[in-house]
Amino acid sequence: FQPKVLLGEHVVVTAGPTFEAMDPIRGITNHSSGKMGFAIARAAREAGARVTLVAGPVHLPTPRGVQRVDVASAQQMLQAVQAAVADASVFVATAAVADWRPADPQMHKIKKDGSGQTPVLRFVENPDILHTVAQGERARGRQLFCVGFAAESENLLEHAKAKRLRKGIPLLVGNIGPLTFGQDDNSLLLVDEHGARELPRASKLALARELASEIAVRLRPWRG
Ligand code: C5P
Repeated sequence: FQPKVLLGEHVVVTAGPTFEAMDPIRGITNHSSGKMGFAIARAAREAGARVTLVAGPVHLPTPRGVQRVDVASAQQMLQAVQAAVADASVFVATAAVADWRPADPQMHKIKKDGSGQTPVLRFVENPDILHTVAQGERARGRQLFCVGFAAESENLLEHAKAKRLRKGIPLLVGNIGPLTFGQDDNSLLLVDEHGARELPRASKLALARELASEIAVRLRPWRG
């Protein structure tokens, strides 16, 4: 039984990787199973929230009662999130967004021409969805409680503190190493304005439920 600590909230979650096409067949992507984000969507729903889950390409079933929007690229993800946050109160960004996308995606398959020459890819930077949304909603005078994730291979606490400030968000969650792509458990470091607290190793669903209550207790004081 989960207490309905997020009743009346609309929670938007991003999950999974993004896929950035170079032609209709190929592209670049990131490692991400989407499991943590899907667990958070489920936990938020169990806690009584309305939940919109914006998912990159993953192989996971949609949690019950959750509205899912499937996207591929970072630009599509940003658009879907911007539409969804219009009436949202919480945004949790777990997606592993590709930092760059091919600058000139081709309409047709790039062919090998037999000369042994390889294509040269140029990249452009993708939008930072979390930063763009957090800033944009604040500029509109809207209160959207934004939660970011950090997957770092070293100096997690330092990086997490810096990232929280850089992104301008109240709560940043660090994945405590080793990086656990695709695994069912994890341990997390919660960093807010008061400092850091560890959620010890547990299943992603158990951690997601703890995170849902951690968000809920912060909402009222943060709204002031
Ligand atoms: O800057 P970095 O990629 O390490 O930040 C990770 C956090 O920012 C995660 O919450 C991730 O979902 C979010 N992010 C994003 N859009 C990007 C890059 C990261 O929303 N282009």
